[in-house]
Amino acid sequence: MMRRTVVLTLTAACVLGVAQQAKEVEKLAPYYPTPETIVEKMLKLGELKADEKTFDLGSGDGRIVIMAAQKFRAIATGVEFDADLWKQSTDRIKSLGLEKRARIIQGDIMKQDYAAADLITVYLLPASNDKVRPLLEKQLKKGTRIVAHDFEMSGWTAEKTEQVDDDGEGRSHTLYLYRR
Ligand SMILES: C[S@@+](CC[C@H](N)C(=O)[O-])C[C@H]1O[C@@H](n2cnc3c(N)ncnc32)[C@H](O)[C@@H]1O
Repeated sequence: MMRRTVVLTLTAACVLGVAQQAKEVEKLAPYYPTPETIVEKMLKLGELKADEKTFDLGSGDGRIVIMAAQKFRAIATGVEFDADLWKQSTDRIKSLGLEKRARIIQGDIMKQDYAAADLITVYLLPASNDKVRPLLEKQLKKGTRIVAHDFEMSGWTAEKTEQVDDDGEGRSHTLYLYRR
């Protein structure tokens, strides 16, 4: 009886702990994927080269990570806290045989180490860019490029801006390239 109570108590504590952890991740943007044509423009604007390290902050279905690894031959990491999106993107990476070049961390954008990055891609909300910016300022090495989709990094001066008036589906996009 005693043993059963201990097991139940530990299980409840574990469930509460997981719930608490999940609650602590702040949702910095809803899932809203970048069209593939724009993904390619982002990676080109970011001058991504083979074997460079790139991180997508909030990687959704993994499309930026996958194109970076497959088409640009980069070493690509995504960070995604949503369990379904993490699984979907991880499964796709496996099915494409890209595990050596692409991976998705299931976790919080705000809790990762980006010091090794040559390129960062970001498609979050303006207020979220304000939260991420100090972290990047602290961690990124000199020369790291950052490409932001649609929302600027306020306080930074873009080296280049690219405007796409119609992506084929009637959506316009603005891309910003920054260099630390
Ligand atoms: C606008 S979508 C962009 C998806 C992808 N980067 C793209 O451009 O197609 C933002 C993504 O960030 C994820 N996200 C939001 N807050 C997060 C956080 N704190 N940690 C990890 N992922 C987060 C969302 O679940 C969503 O998939």
